[in-house]
Amino acid sequence: MSDILIKNVTIVTMNERDEVIQGGDILISDGKIAAVGANLRAAAQGSVETVATPGPERHARVIDATGKIALPGFVNAHTHAAMTLFRGYADDLPLAEWLETKIWPAERRLTADDVYWGTLLSCDEMIRSGVTTFADQYFFMDKVAEAVEISGMRGVLSRGLIGVAPGAEGSLKEAITFCRRWNGKAGGRISTMLGPHAIYTCPPVFIEKVVKEAEMLGVGLHIHISETQKEVRECVERYGSSPVKVLKDAGLFELKVLAAHCVHLSREDMEILAQFGVGVAHNPTSNLKLASGIAPVPEMLKMGITVGIGTDGAASNNNLDMVEEMRLCALIHKVTSLDPTVLPARTALRMATTFGARAVGLGKMIGSIEPGKLADIILVDAHRPHMVPAHDVVSHLVYAAHSDDISTVIINGQVVMEEGRILTIDEERVFEEVQTRARRLAGKR
Ligand code: NI
Repeated sequence: MSDILIKNVTIVTMNERDEVIQGGDILISDGKIAAVGANLRAAAQGSVETVATPGPERHARVIDATGKIALPGFVNAHTHAAMTLFRGYADDLPLAEWLETKIWPAERRLTADDVYWGTLLSCDEMIRSGVTTFADQYFFMDKVAEAVEISGMRGVLSRGLIGVAPGAEGSLKEAITFCRRWNGKAGGRISTMLGPHAIYTCPPVFIEKVVKEAEMLGVGLHIHISETQKEVRECVERYGSSPVKVLKDAGLFELKVLAAHCVHLSREDMEILAQFGVGVAHNPTSNLKLASGIAPVPEMLKMGITVGIGTDGAASNNNLDMVEEMRLCALIHKVTSLDPTVLPARTALRMATTFGARAVGLGKMIGSIEPGKLADIILVDAHRPHMVPAHDVVSHLVYAAHSDDISTVIINGQVVMEEGRILTIDEERVFEEVQTRARRLAGKR
């Protein structure tokens, strides 16, 4: 892998000091960010030049990023990538009916290859909206891992586990095998978790078993928590307390947990999430579309809970556009609290990058542009009418930018999209495959 030198770019570092560097350079070496600053350059000759860096002389590919903004790639903290296959297939239904009458029957027809092509489509879509890492929970995870490997993305992957299903034990075994096979693979881009779906599909005894296995594997857990009022009400009826409390008693939070949704929480629930360092994935569009509610994000942030942003699956969104998701997150909490200061642009951008990285368990490795971190960097074209004048780049990224403005995406030091062209995925082939497969899954010929 050759080095990359990004030159003359506005760098939104997302470091602890919230530093924005004008006209800076970023040097990428061996998949990592080697240096960030001004004038990391030597005599340029064409597109390959010798870069004066400490240590032996090395050659670097140069990307002139004049007029662009560099920021850490977005982390989509919760999705079901292959559900792009069901985009637009079932809309405007309550969650339970949506799952039971439309999504679950269609999912029963899924093949491993369907999941492969559906995931590849979502990787294509996510890269185009600046996502470099996504946390996934689905089935046929070997195929998801293969799609991650090919696309060049970073994935935190978990096989969804339904404890009440007849094949629950087999699924858990399969999930364990998946973790052993793929954790750390694809050049370190894949990490794995166990994925008990939710308290309404996984009784506490099953959760306890999953926690034990995760502990032995040394992996975290990805779960849906308190997505709807119905979930909370039924949990209280069945087990006597809220999902958070029941899951705590089952030992779930003893390990690293990524909790999707967390819409309906009591003060006590939030205290538990804060106390155990649970990472939350906030999915504003999905929660609006399924009318689940609006998560108490400002309150969670105030209590020190790490909250990232997710798109959820394409069947409940219906796209995987993190720029859109970030903006919605910044807007929705203002209106529900009638307070325009409650979630500023800087916080929304942090949620989509640093906090997301922390929530999915990769906080030390990604989420900011700093020497030593892995090189997951996106370049945003600011030479567009809606990005002028440049009063405040962070404000523009959250309130004005379109995902179309993202021109170049680098993941683990590899350029996967360059000036709007995806280099790792054959888009036409993917569109065709998904179109054909989606018709079959919907029961059409
Ligand atoms: Ni979900």
